[in-house]
Amino acid sequence: LNEILRAIAERRSIREFEERELPREAKDAVIEAALRAPTAGNMMLYSIIEVSDQGLKDRLALSCDRQPMIGKAPWVLLFLADYQRWMDYFELCDLSGFCAARGEEMARPRAGDLLLAVDDALIAAQTAVIAAESLGLGSCYVGDVMERIEEHRDLFDLPRYVFPAALLCIGYPAERQLSLPRRGRFDRRHIVFENRYQKRNGADFDEMFAAADTLRLRPGAANYGQNFYQKKFAAPFSRELRRSVSRVLEDWS
Ligand SMILES: Cc1cc2nc3c(=O)[nH]c(=O)nc-3n(C[C@H](O)[C@H](O)[C@H](O)COP(=O)(O)O)c2cc1C
Repeated sequence: LNEILRAIAERRSIREFEERELPREAKDAVIEAALRAPTAGNMMLYSIIEVSDQGLKDRLALSCDRQPMIGKAPWVLLFLADYQRWMDYFELCDLSGFCAARGEEMARPRAGDLLLAVDDALIAAQTAVIAAESLGLGSCYVGDVMERIEEHRDLFDLPRYVFPAALLCIGYPAERQLSLPRRGRFDRRHIVFENRYQKRNGADFDEMFAAADTLRLRPGAANYGQNFYQKKFAAPFSRELRRSVSRVLEDWS
């Protein structure tokens, strides 16, 4: 393995950090790497907010399903899917007048544009993760920033066409985090197909969850599916995610 592949293979989410601040050069290197990520049409449909204010971090630690890690992380980056910048520029360029003169209705960002901008934001975020890893930094995503959209818009002054796609906590890994076992993955045969999608059958699922079945199941759960459904899919945070994103979609419809 070369250095890049080794960094990718050895990465694991880091949720506890040394208290040490990050040198500005390291932060700059991570940001510069993120900005070099591929971006749809070279439009850079994203923005990044460095959350340096401790009060804001503490608010996020509560609003993102109570994750104290956010308040303690030395460096917190918010990746925003952003069509607002382009819409503001279109306005400055009098696109409404331009379209009216041609008798056309002016196009507006819709769900497709949101997904494209989320693609951009996440590709930049993951490039930051790998760049951070290469510098000996650890990181962890927080998906809960897509929840409680009213509160998060308010906290960061997010306009209509800006959506918080992901939060990243970054810092030097606390020693004990590195001794935790790396989390496994489903075997590639269940994930990577040739030419056509292949639905999994009972035997496939038995194989996929063979290791997981040795985990302690929650009361009332007879198998891993019931366990996962209760713990994640139907959990309050998942319900809140659905509510929050439905609210966002109204603005992009
Ligand atoms: C979109 C996304 C959202 C995530 N949200 C959280 C989160 O809110 N809290 C957390 O502790 N980890 C979060 N994670 C980290 C995952 O739990 C982690 O990647 C997964 O368990 C696999 O572990 P690994 O990254 O150590 O290989 C998130 C990861 C992704 C990709």
